[in-house]
Parts: sequence; structure tokens; C-alpha cells
Amino acid sequence: MKTNINLQPYNSFGFDAVAKQFVEINAVSDLQTLIKSGALPRQKTLILSGGNNILFQNEVFDGLVIYINTKGIEIIKEGGNEVVVRAQAGEDWPDFVRFCVGKGWHGVENLAHIPGKVGAAPVQNIGAYGMELKDSFAQCEAMDLVTGETKVFTKEECRFGYRESVFKGELKGRYVITSVDFLLKKDAPLNLEYGNIKAYLEENGIPRPTLQQLHDVICTIRDAKLPDVKQIGSAGSFFKNPVIERAQFETLLKEYPTMPHYDEPNGKVKVPAGWLIEQAGWKGWRDEHVGVYDKQALVLVHYGGGKGQDIVQLAHRIQESVEEKFGIRISPEVNFV
Ligand code: EPU
Repeated sequence: MKTNINLQPYNSFGFDAVAKQFVEINAVSDLQTLIKSGALPRQKTLILSGGNNILFQNEVFDGLVIYINTKGIEIIKEGGNEVVVRAQAGEDWPDFVRFCVGKGWHGVENLAHIPGKVGAAPVQNIGAYGMELKDSFAQCEAMDLVTGETKVFTKEECRFGYRESVFKGELKGRYVITSVDFLLKKDAPLNLEYGNIKAYLEENGIPRPTLQQLHDVICTIRDAKLPDVKQIGSAGSFFKNPVIERAQFETLLKEYPTMPHYDEPNGKVKVPAGWLIEQAGWKGWRDEHVGVYDKQALVLVHYGGGKGQDIVQLAHRIQESVEEKFGIRISPEVNFV
């Protein structure tokens, strides 16, 4: 257990936040020992994974940060066209995807290059380029922070939704995911449907990409649109894409005929928050410390020297101006701590 640790290297926004107490977990048994010691209920706790989707609002975190850094990838089952792979929670997500693609296993390739760790991926059901984590998720193991017992969560029990799961909702703060099992395929059609990918492949003369080529193309597309967190602080998409009623969508479409949109299975319509924010005039806006990324308006950025509160205030201003212009309230996908 360490005291007064600056979490600046542990959050992709790069904000200073001092944790009163900090413990790094390198083995699942360490976590169990910590829980059984009874130390947890006495204080505020925060489970920290890659820190890529977190906003520290204050300069002090007055509690215990539990940093998950367990490693290991193993094959659990292999047969026919399928392979079940288990990754420990602290494995780096982009490395895990690269490993699977290198082995020729399909199922996570479109999620290439998303910064973060394996254990955090199910919490918000990460998604990109027409694929979501839930598509290849088999099950996960999680530890109950109250009892120290391990529980297996099936896909159904995780209640995955768009950037949602039971770990972000009803069971928030109760369980720590310790490992995730993925059901991958040795042979499967590639998912090239997402607009950007097809266009890019066509322009670059790769109409029938291999798994590895698709992976690499996605990395290139992401690099062109999203900031490198080693250089500019950010947490990827800051807001979720709002889902609105069809009637409201029809009205808006009359005024904004080029508004991009995706039909949802329930008859509602999803509208890209990045487009709404750009239309409200925010794309590329910046002050000394924070701003709205000039290549993707859904990404709020920290240029350095700022505070979490600068992003909190910017986010409120953006929410208000989008609501005023479109009558749509966008909500953050980033976790505020
Ligand atoms: N758009 C604009 N202006 C912008 C940004 C986007 O007009 O500044 C328009 C685009 O032209 C396009 C539409 O909005 O028509 C969608 O944009 P894009 O394809 O870039 O995707 P997104 O909906 O903004 C989502 C995810 C990303 C993921 C991409 C690619 C959410 C909240 N975000 O963004 O995820 O990488 O799709 O699949 O769903 C993340 O969660 O951190 C993240 C980066």
C-alpha cells in the first residue's frame, strides 16, 4: 500500500489527482487478501484499470485506489472453428487484439487500437467500426468486493447495451472483473460494413483484405481521427451518441437534411453526437488548457496544465448549446470520479 500517489500517469486525460492510498494488484489472490483484510468498507474505493475512460474532477481522491495489473492470456478450449481465450484483466487491450489477429483468430479485430485494458472492456461494452465487445464475449470472472468470492458472469448476466453493462449500472462498485473469456473463430467473414472502412479499403486498392490488413487499416483510420493520448490528453469519445424518438428525428431532418443517423431496432434513431457538437460550432474550439478535438468533435482534449474541472465546465457548455440548438440532451460516456 502506497500513500499520496499522483494519478497523472494513470489517467489518459493526464490530470493531476492525488490518491490518498494506492495499491497495485498483480495477482487475483492479492485482491482477495485485500478484501478479506476488511480494509475496503472503511473508505471510498476506486477500481482503476487503464484510466482511459475516467475524469478526475478533483485534485485529491480521498480514498483507496485499487490498480488492476494482472497479466496472462491462455487458451481455454479449442476445437473445430472455435477457440476460447482467457485474458487477465490487466492485459493491454490493443496488445490482446494484436495477439488474437496474429494467431488468425477472428472476433475482436474491429476493436483494434482502442486504448485500455481487458478488464474494463466489458464494463462499457467497448465498440467501434460495427463491432462491440459483446459480439465475442463468452463469460467473465469477477470478484465480489464485499465477500471476496469469485463469480462467473454469463453474457446474459452482463446485460450489455450500447456502452452499458450491469457493471456500470446496478452492480457498479460491487464487482471487479478479474478475467474475460472470448469466443473467437478461426475462420469467419470480416465485418467491413462500417462506412469508413469500405471507403478506405476501396481507395487503397484492398477490396479483399486479410484479417491482419483489416486490423492495420482500422489502426490507421483511428490514428487519423483520434488523438494519441501520449501526446494529447483525452478519454476517446466523451459523450454517447443519443438515441431519439422517430418523431423528433423527422422534425430535425426537415431542418437538417444531411444529418447522419442510424435506425435502432426499437424504431428509435441514433444520431452522432460528434455531428451535433460540430453543428453547434464547437469543433476545434480551445482555450489555453482544454478543447474540442479538431478532427472529431466527440473527443474533448486536455492540452496540459489544466484541471478536471475545466473539462467538466466545457462538457456542460457543450451539453447546453447542443440542447438549445437541437432539443437533444447528450450524456457523457466517461466516468466522473
Ligand atoms: N461526425 C461529424 N463531425 C465530427 C464527428 C463525427 O459530422 O466531428 C459525423 C461523421 O461524419 C459520421 C458520424 O458523425 O457521419 C459518425 O462519426 P464516426 O464514424 O467518427 O463515429 P462516432 O459515432 O462519432 C463512434 C464511437 C467511437 C468509435 C467510432 C467508430 C461512440 C460514443 N463513439 O464514434 O468510439 O471509435 O464510432 O466506430 O459510440 C469511444 O467510445 O471512445 C470511441 C472512440
